[in-house]
Amino acid sequence: MTVTENPFLAGNYGPVSEERTETDLAVDGAVPAELQGRFLRIGPNPHVMPTGPYHWFLGDGMVHGVELGGGAARWYRNRWIRTDEIAAALGETPVDGPKPPIYDGSNTHVVGHAGRIYTLTEGSMPYELSPTLDTLHRTDFGGPLPSGFTAHPKVDPVTGEMHGFAYWFAEPYLTYYVIDAGGTLVRSEPITIPRAVMMHDFAITRDNVVFFDLPVVFDLETQPFPFRWDDDTPARVGVMPRSGGDADVQWVDIDPCYVFHPMNAYDDGGTVVVDVPKYSTMMKHSRIGPNDGAPPALERWTIDPSAGKVRTEQVDGRGQEFPRVNETLLGSRHRYGYCVELVETRDAFDSARYLKHDFVAGTTQEHDFGAGRLPSEFVFVPSERASSEDDGWLLGYVYDAATDRSDLVILDAHDFASDPVATVHLPARVPFGFHGSWIADA
Ligand SMILES: [Fe+2]
Repeated sequence: MTVTENPFLAGNYGPVSEERTETDLAVDGAVPAELQGRFLRIGPNPHVMPTGPYHWFLGDGMVHGVELGGGAARWYRNRWIRTDEIAAALGETPVDGPKPPIYDGSNTHVVGHAGRIYTLTEGSMPYELSPTLDTLHRTDFGGPLPSGFTAHPKVDPVTGEMHGFAYWFAEPYLTYYVIDAGGTLVRSEPITIPRAVMMHDFAITRDNVVFFDLPVVFDLETQPFPFRWDDDTPARVGVMPRSGGDADVQWVDIDPCYVFHPMNAYDDGGTVVVDVPKYSTMMKHSRIGPNDGAPPALERWTIDPSAGKVRTEQVDGRGQEFPRVNETLLGSRHRYGYCVELVETRDAFDSARYLKHDFVAGTTQEHDFGAGRLPSEFVFVPSERASSEDDGWLLGYVYDAATDRSDLVILDAHDFASDPVATVHLPARVPFGFHGSWIADA
C-alpha cells in the first residue's frame, strides 16, 4: 500500500495543516448557558505528511477545543502538542519535564484532573496544557513513571483519585497506578502478566480494577506499529480488589478477542459487569489502523472471578466504538451508554449514527446527523441540577463532507433523537481522531 492509498491519511482522516484561533463562530440553536468550560478532543495529525508506512496510532497529536460560556461559543483553537519533535519542527524551545521513556507521542486522550489538563498516549509521558491549549510541560505526577502512562485513566467520581496503569515491553509488563485527588502519584503496583501485550484501556468499579490481557503481543519486527495478533496467546480478564494487590488478581480465561474501550464496569454481588465493544481480532491483518475486520459489536460481560467464568451477551450487533457513560457513575451501575456507530468503508472505518443504549429497557435510540455528516466521539456533560442519569448534554465534533468543515454539536441526552440543541459551525475541519473531555470552568 502506498502512502497515498492509506485511508488514514485521506478524506477526514487526513491531517489539517495550520493552527487556528477563531472567535467569530456562527451558532444554530442556543448554547446552554450553564455549559461553562471547554470541549477538548485530540487525535493524530501528522505535521509532515508521511512518506513511508504510516499507522494511524502514531500521528503527531493535535488537540481541538471550543470554549463555551454565557450561552455563547467563545473560541475554537487547534494546537499540536509540543513533543520535542514538534517543538523542533516549529522552531520553538522544547518544553521541560521528565523525559519520555522511549516514545514521545501525545495524541490519544485529553483529560482533566486536579484542576489541570493532560494529553496522553500510552507508553509516553503526559503533557500538561494551558486552558488555551498551549503545551506547558511534561509531567509524571511526581513519579516515577518508567514506562509512561495509559491514555485511559479513570477519575473516580467518589474519591477524586485518578486510577491508571502502564504496560511495557520488559518486566514489569504491567503496573497499576493511583494519582491522588491533588494530582500526586501515590501508588505503583507491578502486576504479573506473562508477556508484553497491548493493553489500551482498563476499568474500575467501586471495589475492583479490571485488566484486559488480550492476544495482541509486542513484536519489534512488526512495523510501523510493533504489535500483532497472536493465535497462540490466550485471552484473559483480571479482577483485582482495589484494597488488594498483584497477589489478589483473579484471572479468568475468555475466548480470544480484542477490546480497546470498556464503556463502564460495576460490581453486582460477587460479579463484575463490564460493557465492551468487542473485536474478533486486532492487528492480525491490518498494519495501518484498527480496521482488522468487522467493526466491534457491543457485549455485556459478567465476570465471576470465584467461579472462573465470564458470561457474555450481545447487547447490540451494530458496529460501534467510543463508548461513554455519564461519568458521575463511573465504576457504578449505569443505565445508559453512548457509542458512535462504525461502518466499514475504504479499508478503514467510517462513523455513521450516534447510539444511546438503555440497558434497563433493552432498547437503543439513534441520532442521525444527516447525509454526509459523520460524528467523532461524544462526551456526556451532566446538567447542574440533574434529575436523572441522562439529564445533560452530549458534545462532539461532526464532520460535514459537503462543506469539508466540522461542527461542535450539542445534543440533549434525554431527547436523544431530536435535532441538536446547538450547532457551533467551525471554519475548519476536525479530522477523525480519538478521545476527549469536557473541562468545566473551576
Ligand atoms: Fe482509546
